[in-house]
Amino acid sequence: MAVMPEEEDSSSYFVREIEKTDGSVLKMYQCSKGDVGCVVWDAAIVLSKYLETEQFSHSQAGPSAWSCKRMVELGAGTGVVGIMAASLGANVTVTDLEDLQPLLELNIRKNQDLISTGSVTAKVLKWGDDVADFLPHPDYILMADCIYYEQSVEPLVETLKLLSGPETCIFCCYEERTVGVNPEVERRFFELLLQDFESEEIPAEKQDPEFNSPDIHMLCLRRRPS
Ligand SMILES: C[S@@+](CC[C@H](N)C(=O)[O-])C[C@H]1O[C@@H](n2cnc3c(N)ncnc32)[C@H](O)[C@@H]1O
Repeated sequence: MAVMPEEEDSSSYFVREIEKTDGSVLKMYQCSKGDVGCVVWDAAIVLSKYLETEQFSHSQAGPSAWSCKRMVELGAGTGVVGIMAASLGANVTVTDLEDLQPLLELNIRKNQDLISTGSVTAKVLKWGDDVADFLPHPDYILMADCIYYEQSVEPLVETLKLLSGPETCIFCCYEERTVGVNPEVERRFFELLLQDFESEEIPAEKQDPEFNSPDIHMLCLRRRPS
């Protein structure tokens, strides 16, 4: 089922506004009906707001260095994280399954006026599939709330391995869930991931002072030297 809200039909979607530090506002269209990718998840807000912090720009991109950075967002859903990064000047590809492409394209269109020096494009990337279209290795891979179901654990780790080079930094933001299969899915994901990646947790005091939460974790992952 393709997810495409009719822009004229306001019952098909509802808008979530995310205020940037400079006072401008991202308007993210979310679908009233659809799968998990149709709405903005809290981890995506935490990661988006982290990208705006001085801590991020000084320690990672360097002041004013956004324009040379290439980023790929995995499981982008509405695309909020990638669109925030593009509005800060990065060149971003937001990716998700085929069904989410219309929603990603709608949100890119609706926020185009906030993107000047950067750029953002939507593309299909199913985890585990070929990543040739996304090479050379991006400077950053962004992922918010992508660790949530069993069957996707192995293909997701495979995509991270294929897509990341020695210099790539992966920002993985996820909400820790304590019910059902979630703890086991997380355990399995990190068991596989940490065979090839080093992980550093970004503490709350280095995140946005308002948009952080004890149950939302943000990790910076890098490939272990071979
Ligand atoms: C919980 S949503 C998070 C969406 C968005 N990152 C956010 O935090 O608002 C998980 C996303 O992963 C995508 N996804 C799930 N399985 C996938 C797969 N095998 N390949 C690519 N994307 C996938 C879904 O379509 C969905 O958009």
